[in-house]
Amino acid sequence: MAAFGQVTVFLLVAVAVFESANSSHSADQAVVSFTKYMSYSEVVAYLRSLQLRYPNLVYVGSMGCSVEGRELVYARVSTWPKKNHPKDVMLVDALTHARAWITLPPVLYLLQQLVENHDEHAALLRRCDVVVVPFINPDGYEYSRNVDRLWRKNRATTYNASCIGVDLNRNYNFHWADFMNSQDPPTFLTASNDSCANTYAGPRAASEPETRSYQNFIRSLKSLKMFVNLSAPRQGISFPFGFSSTAPKVPDFDALHAIGAEASNAAVKAGAKPYPVQNLAANYVATGVVTDWARGVAGVNKSFLMELPSGGSDDFLGFDVPTSQILPISQQVFEAFKVFAKYA
Ligand SMILES: *[C@@H]1O[C@H](CO)[C@@H](O)[C@H](O)[C@H]1NC(C)=O
Ligand SMILES: *[C@@H]1O[C@H](CO)[C@@H](O)[C@H](O)[C@H]1NC(C)=O
Ligand SMILES: *[C@@H]1O[C@H](CO)[C@@H](O)[C@H](O)[C@H]1NC(C)=O
Ligand SMILES: *[C@@H]1O[C@H](CO)[C@@H](O)[C@H](O)[C@H]1NC(C)=O
Ligand SMILES: *[C@@H]1O[C@H](CO)[C@@H](O)[C@H](O)[C@H]1NC(C)=O
Repeated sequence: MAAFGQVTVFLLVAVAVFESANSSHSADQAVVSFTKYMSYSEVVAYLRSLQLRYPNLVYVGSMGCSVEGRELVYARVSTWPKKNHPKDVMLVDALTHARAWITLPPVLYLLQQLVENHDEHAALLRRCDVVVVPFINPDGYEYSRNVDRLWRKNRATTYNASCIGVDLNRNYNFHWADFMNSQDPPTFLTASNDSCANTYAGPRAASEPETRSYQNFIRSLKSLKMFVNLSAPRQGISFPFGFSSTAPKVPDFDALHAIGAEASNAAVKAGAKPYPVQNLAANYVATGVVTDWARGVAGVNKSFLMELPSGGSDDFLGFDVPTSQILPISQQVFEAFKVFAKYA
């Protein structure tokens, strides 16, 4: 019965996505906005429109489906799309945590600049392909937009019927649920086995379709050299490891620190406050996070977490960055992305 329900939801949503590209918002006209936070379906329509308008530059695909059946879309910008050529790849993602809305516009801005302003950024694309994943957690994002602004997790049912959702960024298969035997005193950020907690790690490593799909997708990318995970609201740039305060220092610590500092400087030149650069554990200890997984399991040496500034009211913990900040922050992050791409 439950399985039946899931299949039905999946089909309905798939039809809805398919239609939205062709109906009210004709796909070849969908535009991107930096004066508001776009919805999931608006972003999907924009991605499809980019592919229609720039078929030689953009390939839009799906890496799987969320719990509620939304497609986990990605866009690959390449001078030779679809071909399995050996060019290095920079991967950028957003919206693992549903309430961190400000992570979405900068990745859309990156896409828009690379595609619609292609001539100006041709050098970057000669260096590497850029893959953008706008939503790791589309269900949570729509729930945050429509029901509960501070929603963070996905929308999976758990062992406790009154508590929904797994923290996708505690669900990756690397030091998963290490909080059980960690030396560190657990904080509210580490991870939890209580499904009512915001950092619930899930019943098993990579138990969630979003996490599993993303792990498989990352593994499938040939020559992935640079990975930047966007987050908010504790402004800073971090790199592995974060699973324990006694985690080993990576041998290339200094090189990674230098890249982070250069990215921060570039953002500062565009008007940002400096981004403190440090390893993840110095920022905060957390287990089963994607930044660690990418390095520890997928072997991506340059794996960064870039946490964007907070904004808005304290009632919303700094997650409601005003829409007037969307464009400036997107432009600042773009300057940092250009630095990251240089080292891809
Ligand atoms: C839009 O409609 C055209 C023609 O009716 C069809 O060929 C195309 O597959 C549709 N595209 C999407 C994304 O639905
Ligand atoms: C990755 O980005 C998401 C926001 O989209 C954030 O919630 C998550 O904490 C980030 N990763 C890490 C390791 O913090
Ligand atoms: C389920 O969650 C409710 C609401 O937070 C809580 O009161 C209850 O103790 C939980 N039950 C179990 C079995 O954890
Ligand atoms: C969570 O872990 C604690 C030990 O750290 C254990 O006592 C408890 O039973 C666990 N709860 C669940 C729901 O697994
Ligand atoms: C990653 O870094 C290590 C040294 O820390 C190096 O031996 C290895 O070749 C690097 N891997 C890649 C894919 O660059």
